[in-house]
Amino acid sequence: MKIAMGNDHTAVELKEAIRKHLEEKGIEIIDLGFNGTGSCDYPVYGEKVGRAVVDGEADLGIAICGTGLGISLAANKVKGVRACVCSEPYTAKLSRLHNDCNVLCFGARVIGVEMAKMITDIWLESGFEGGRHKRRVDMIMDIEGR
Ligand code: RB5
Repeated sequence: MKIAMGNDHTAVELKEAIRKHLEEKGIEIIDLGFNGTGSCDYPVYGEKVGRAVVDGEADLGIAICGTGLGISLAANKVKGVRACVCSEPYTAKLSRLHNDCNVLCFGARVIGVEMAKMITDIWLESGFEGGRHKRRVDMIMDIEGR
């Protein structure tokens, strides 16, 4: 399993904590995020993570900014991306089961490290249920073609 991670300046520490957590489980991380000092622009990193997922370089993506909103909006502009901001486990689980979410987004200014790790674990353990949910996800993806 390979996961592409991306983040802006608000989320360097949270990205590192999640990266370490996942690497300890044997998951390979492709770090496409900001690691410098000062500030940067989150759309760059949302797009990078989205492209890594739809191009098949990574199986799934995790993108983090201050709220999770900006970076998810950017990732969702990449055709084939279904990025969801999750701040608690129930939504994270359902984002996989029903929405086939392929990019998990966090707000580093919203949730703590332990909650983010728990959400990540539950998200990774959950799989798409298909069936009626596939029809609906297909309807979402059809919007990209119009
Ligand atoms: C950066 O200040 C902040 O706007 C960004 O991290 C994110 O929250 C945007 O949606």
